[in-house]
Amino acid sequence: MNLRTLGEFIVERQADFPGSSGDFSRLLSGLRLAGKIVNQQVNKAGLAKHILGSVGNTNVQGEEQQKLDVFADNQFIKAFENQGVVCGVGSEENDTYIAFESEKCQNAKYVILMDPLDGSSNIDVNVSIGTIFSIFRRVSPVGEPAQLEDFLQKGTEQVAAGYIIYGSSTMLVYTTGNGVNGFTYDPGIGVFFLSHPNMQFPEDGKIYSINEGNINQCEQGVVDYVNYCQDTNASDKHPYSGRYIGSLVADFHRNLIKGGIYIYPSTQSAPNGKLRLQYECNPLAFLTEQAGGLATDGRQRIMDIDPNELHQRTPFFVGSKNMVNKAGSFLK
Ligand code: AHG
Ligand code: MN
Ligand code: MN
Repeated sequence: MNLRTLGEFIVERQADFPGSSGDFSRLLSGLRLAGKIVNQQVNKAGLAKHILGSVGNTNVQGEEQQKLDVFADNQFIKAFENQGVVCGVGSEENDTYIAFESEKCQNAKYVILMDPLDGSSNIDVNVSIGTIFSIFRRVSPVGEPAQLEDFLQKGTEQVAAGYIIYGSSTMLVYTTGNGVNGFTYDPGIGVFFLSHPNMQFPEDGKIYSINEGNINQCEQGVVDYVNYCQDTNASDKHPYSGRYIGSLVADFHRNLIKGGIYIYPSTQSAPNGKLRLQYECNPLAFLTEQAGGLATDGRQRIMDIDPNELHQRTPFFVGSKNMVNKAGSFLK
């Protein structure tokens, strides 16, 4: 077998940046470790009753927290704190950002934003879920506690982003702004191998992913685009296939490999859509652009949005370039 491990890949890439301190490599190691621990729990969720079901309260977004949401949140936070390479974490599961107190962490130059468990309503039914992360260089002074402004940067400022998908196999897919690489986990030996080098969104696709149960609540342009996807008379090989898992990471991952578009539009009950800009949309937008795709809110580029609050939501149109452009043309 001639496969590169994630560890080897990280070391090789670090060598591309002479003089780098290795902090970023350690950050990725922390992420990899926590990902393995969460993966292990996800895999035995059906057996381990203590890990299934809801905690009995809602998070700051008013969503029911699952036990695994809380478990994953804690694991990632602990791993980052132990590595001492980020000064703070913003997470979908917490009311506000966490600024680590240790001197080591306050001297760190990165912050991380994450959705520790995406698609968590799918845990109890054995469907793929994921973890999404986004890494920024802090803007507040090194040596002090992290500040809100560190977490309110535009997506264009990301230094890295990615996701872990806990699917039929577990994969880590990430970018540092130099293409997108995917690593598949071998649970027998506990190692991620580079299985999908230089991933590219097909320019076009035949899959559209949207919760059609909301269609009566969507603006006309979205309705028109979905009709276009379903058009049997169109010359360009319609109708497309509708595929919607309800785990953004899993829907995104499939579309990245096969070509497709994922849409979470604004609806009457959720005027800014449901997805969160900093935990979900920015990281996937960075990956998408690095893989040759497009990510917009229907009208403007996701990574150009200037966030003004931590848990900000945005409509999200992401995927194959031609499909996202086409969908956008219906909204004008
Ligand atoms: P989370 O589990 O992190 O709260 O995210 C759920 C998100 C996303 O994964 C999914 O695509 C979307 O919510 C599904 O929402 P609907 O059920 O409204 O379609
Ligand atoms: Mn999510
Ligand atoms: Mn989540």
